[in-house]
Amino acid sequence: MSISEEMYLHYHGLIVPKETHSYESLEFAQGFKFEDDDVLAVTYPKSGTIWMQEILPLVLNGGDLTPIHTIPNWERVPWLEEKQLARVVDKLASPRALVSHFPYNLMPPSFCTSKAKVIYVMRNPKDIMVSSYYFHQMAGFLEDPGTFDEFMDKFLEGKVMFGKWTDHMKSWRNSELGDRIMYITYEEMAQDLPAALRRISDFLGCNLTEEVIQKVAEHCSFKSMQNNNMSNFSLIPKVYMDHDKSPFLRKGNAGDWKNHFSSEQLTRFTSVISKELEGESFSLPWSL
Ligand code: A3P
Repeated sequence: MSISEEMYLHYHGLIVPKETHSYESLEFAQGFKFEDDDVLAVTYPKSGTIWMQEILPLVLNGGDLTPIHTIPNWERVPWLEEKQLARVVDKLASPRALVSHFPYNLMPPSFCTSKAKVIYVMRNPKDIMVSSYYFHQMAGFLEDPGTFDEFMDKFLEGKVMFGKWTDHMKSWRNSELGDRIMYITYEEMAQDLPAALRRISDFLGCNLTEEVIQKVAEHCSFKSMQNNNMSNFSLIPKVYMDHDKSPFLRKGNAGDWKNHFSSEQLTRFTSVISKELEGESFSLPWSL
């Protein structure tokens, strides 16, 4: 199975969309100078990236809603590897928050020598695949996914942006960053957002009061984000994101895969993923 050379570029073995990434932006990321107080949220695509773009500024600034209501998410907490970082980097509030889909092995040297903290958000790969399938239908800068079954093959073969989910997980789960890294799951956030926010706040040393935690949770709910034009991608022209085909903030559920996978697909998916994670010292937070 091949991928569209017209839509994607290859960078050190990684596949990324040309619309949002360029060789220059990827090199800019490599030369990016991390500060010790920077905070980075890392995700495999469709694991909750824009959720973290909402959460991080609020946690870091004590619940001030100004940034989430005035700055589009991609400028507020930009992607390390995307084109817009060079344009907005000097405008970022301190402490800076960024997101990235890079695997650990592509992190710039300054990240490794800094004390910048990282939150790695994991999501059940079956739900990631479903979310990604719909995202490929609505995003004009991604290849048409074909049928759900065809897309499953692409996903399992890593013929999608940012490659195989298992490689991404392995790279970050084995990164040995000690107390610089915190692991959290989408499911944990979906089940009890205030509890997840307390963990994030403690990890970042923000000591938010319970009142602020509740306020942040309310503003980072799926409904609030759906209604926030600075976070729901409604400012993006339809040719790039067509929300009539599928809204970016689509369902916001854990377990939607059950509505999509046949039993044969479940067996195929589980056997490929389990095999690729065989012998790893970390365990998955969900059963496959
Ligand atoms: P679904 O397509 O399953 O609805 P990313 O930002 O990494 O691309 O991930 C997008 C996924 O995160 C989408 O999943 C989206 O709906 C979900 N998401 C974003 N904000 C959320 C929130 N506040 N609560 C629950 N899910 C959210």
